[in-house]
Amino acid sequence: MSQTQLSRAPVGVLDSGLGGLSVLKALRAELPAEDFVYCADCGNAPWGDKTQDFVLDRCRAICRFLIGMHAKMIVLACNTATALAADALRSEFALPIVGIEPAVKPASVQSRSHVIGVLATNGTIQSSRYRLLTERFGHDVRILSTGAPGLMECVEKGDFTGPRTRALAQKYLAPMQKAGIDKLVLGCTHYPFLSDVLHDILGPEVELIEPGPAVACVAHTRLRQISAARTLNASPAEQFFIKKAVLHKDVLLRLWPQAENIAELAV
Ligand code: DGL
Repeated sequence: MSQTQLSRAPVGVLDSGLGGLSVLKALRAELPAEDFVYCADCGNAPWGDKTQDFVLDRCRAICRFLIGMHAKMIVLACNTATALAADALRSEFALPIVGIEPAVKPASVQSRSHVIGVLATNGTIQSSRYRLLTERFGHDVRILSTGAPGLMECVEKGDFTGPRTRALAQKYLAPMQKAGIDKLVLGCTHYPFLSDVLHDILGPEVELIEPGPAVACVAHTRLRQISAARTLNASPAEQFFIKKAVLHKDVLLRLWPQAENIAELAV
């Protein structure tokens, strides 16, 4: 592939569902001239309570699909996939694979109360990768890590602010509030879509930290390193491949109203 062909190739983005759109938003802002192919495994979600083998198999199948779509890079817009599958995927595939992990480092450095909360999936919280992360950056802070099953499903159903979502969030946040957190790390890409409720419960003194923009910067740097960043594009495009698209199209359109190219993810 020539350098021009490479720069014109799309960036692949994958998640278990629609949460990765929070990362796609940051990628779109950072890389306005790129084309994106977004894959959501909605029909198999959540991944957060599945086995490592299951998550790896799904990621592998979707990566192969994205490579078939000529992706020049893949962004794992999913903390769970990064925690459970990134190392294996990087050893299997030659293209750059950018992952995402809970922003424990910036939260612990910036915390004034020295108590931070991390909300993520069980898969992420129980992973050895997450344990290493908290060991590395948890010296001067107390880290309250909570697996939050059910919250991603609220987003997938389009229930961003309803009473069920609020009650579930309240349950997970209560011990963190009691402990005096001043930063809440959103360790699952679905949770930025619940920011209104989370802010409302925690109040203005607790900052929500989402990693989308940082990941978009890393993605940009990687593209420059392989001389594949696109700078000119008359009509930057996004294509969406969704597992069980008929059931999830409405919520996708609420989160990404300009989506036009929506198809079934057939892998
Ligand atoms: N969006 C995901 C993450 O960042 C996965 C949620 C799930 O499938 O359980 O972890």
